[in-house]
Amino acid sequence: MIKLLSHLSYVAITSPDVEASVEFYKNQVGLIEVDRVDGAVYLRCWGDYYAYSVVVIPGDEPSLATAAWRTTSAEALEEAAKRVQAAGIEGEWLDDVPHIGRAFRFTGPWGHSLTLHWDVTRHHDTEGEAASSYPDRPSRRSKVAGAPRQLDHVTIACSDVDAFAAWYNEVLGFRIMARTVLDEAPISVFSVLTTNEKSHDLGVVLDGSSRAGRINHYAFWVDTREELLIAADILGENGYPIEYGPSIHGIGEQNFLYYREPSSLRIELNTGGYRNYVPDWTPNTWKPSQGSNNMYRNSVMPMSMTESFPPADGPSATEEGVPEEIKEALLNPYAQQGQG
Ligand SMILES: [Fe+2]
Repeated sequence: MIKLLSHLSYVAITSPDVEASVEFYKNQVGLIEVDRVDGAVYLRCWGDYYAYSVVVIPGDEPSLATAAWRTTSAEALEEAAKRVQAAGIEGEWLDDVPHIGRAFRFTGPWGHSLTLHWDVTRHHDTEGEAASSYPDRPSRRSKVAGAPRQLDHVTIACSDVDAFAAWYNEVLGFRIMARTVLDEAPISVFSVLTTNEKSHDLGVVLDGSSRAGRINHYAFWVDTREELLIAADILGENGYPIEYGPSIHGIGEQNFLYYREPSSLRIELNTGGYRNYVPDWTPNTWKPSQGSNNMYRNSVMPMSMTESFPPADGPSATEEGVPEEIKEALLNPYAQQGQG
């Protein structure tokens, strides 16, 4: 298979209070507002190469509206769409995605909306206050301390981690980089996939609910661990609780910090970690006891980290059909260590 996808390009999320979310992203995370279309607000990090990387859309609950990947070429977009359709998913062609234009959007087998596109609008401030003295830098570094350089990854929730990873590997060519299987039972609770040299631009965590299409978190990249620590420091001073971290994931070897935006959706800052471009990488199967999530293994992940969005007890959720062993796995402290 030719390489189809290049990188995660944007994440669109819904928020019941768009203005509160946008204010947080601008003033606490350090994103820049670039456009508003039909109530949706488009934002970018200072180092993002395209028009935007985050879209906040009005909605009743926090949720993933879509996650978008740029393809490696126009031909790759056609091929990717064909492969999705050959896998039995019709999808639809869009012509009017703001600042992108043509895109192929489909709902994957576990209910997550993905958008694939080749066309983009590049962002480059070449004059004025936002222009950088680095010619390759899309705009000047943010004055918000700890502001991320760019979007990093999205981690979704689904009821079958291994089947999810296999589908995205076989249909779209994501490389499977690692997975976590419980110490006590052969249950996969986490896996990471990538389209490039990062450990992951797509993560998947076991979802014990029966609500499809949920997101666990999405993440931004900061250049240094110091910026991640400063972000944690300032969030605390500004009265925003830190959910988990700062610490380091075993899988991917990235430093992490988790907190929530006003909708309650979880966001993460990442930095460090390996770069891996091995095309025939053999993924390791980690045990939580090895520190797959927290390599220091000196704290238990807060139970709140198992919450995904929208909430499992929402209107379309049911407890029926969720195997007992999965329910137990999610209540087991070691299972909690499996996520990343
Ligand atoms: Fe993450």
